[in-house]
Amino acid sequence: MLHKLHRISALLISLYVLFHLTNHVIALGGVSAHINFMENLRPIYRAKVIEPILLFCALFQVTSGIIFIARRWGKRRGFFDHAQAISGGYLAFFLMFHVSAVMYGRLVQGLDTNFFFAAAGLQPGAYPWFFLPYYTLAVVAYFTHLACGLRWILREHLSTQTLNRAAGGVMTVGLLLGLTIVSTFSGAIYPIALPNEYCLNKC
Ligand code: HEM
Repeated sequence: MLHKLHRISALLISLYVLFHLTNHVIALGGVSAHINFMENLRPIYRAKVIEPILLFCALFQVTSGIIFIARRWGKRRGFFDHAQAISGGYLAFFLMFHVSAVMYGRLVQGLDTNFFFAAAGLQPGAYPWFFLPYYTLAVVAYFTHLACGLRWILREHLSTQTLNRAAGGVMTVGLLLGLTIVSTFSGAIYPIALPNEYCLNKC
C-alpha cells in the first residue's frame, strides 16, 4: 500500500518537476524569460487547493522514502538497486531543505522566490561550492530515481541490456540538464546583476 501511494505521490510531484525544470531551462533565454514563465505558472501551482497538496506530497515522499531505505538497509543487491536508494536518500535531503528554504524566503524574509533567489547562492562570493553540487545532484538524483523506477516497472517487458542502456541514458540526460541549469544560474552563460535584497554576502 505504501509503495502504491509513493508512486501516486511521485507522479504528482513529477508533474510539477516537469514544469519546474522546463522553467529553469528557459532561463537559457535570459532572466526575464525565466521570471515570465514562472509568473505564468504560479497561479496554477500556488493555487489554494494545489500548493498544499504539492507540499503534502513532498513531505509524504520524504517520509515514505526514508521508511523504504530503512526497511531494506543492507539487503540491496546490484547497481540500480543501490542507485535507487542513494538517489532517493539525496532527494529526501534536497526536498526537505529546498522546500523549507523557499518557504522561509517567501513567508519569513518576504522575498519573491524567483530566478534571483535560486541564483544568489551560486554567485562568486556567496556559496557556489555548496550550491553547485547541491542543485546538480538534485537533478541527477531525480532522473536516476525515475530511471530506476521505470526500469523496475518495465523489467518483465524488456531485456536487461535494453533496460540498463535506457536507464543509463535517462541518468545522463539528468546530469547534462543539471549542469546546464547550474551554469545558467551561476552566471557562466550570461552575467547576472543580483538585486541587493538577494545578496548573501557581498554583491
Ligand atoms: C535544480 C535546480 C533547481 C532550482 C534552481 C530550483 C529553484 C526553485 C525556486 C526558485 C523555487 C520557488 C518557486 C516559486 O517561488 O514559485 C522552487 C520551488 C520548489 N522546488 Fe525547486 N529548484 C530546483 C530543483 C528542484 C527539484 C529537482 C525539485 C524536486 C525534486 C524541486 C522541487 C521544488 C518544490 C516542491 C518547490 C515548492 C513549490 C511551491 O509550492 O512554491 N526543485 N525551486
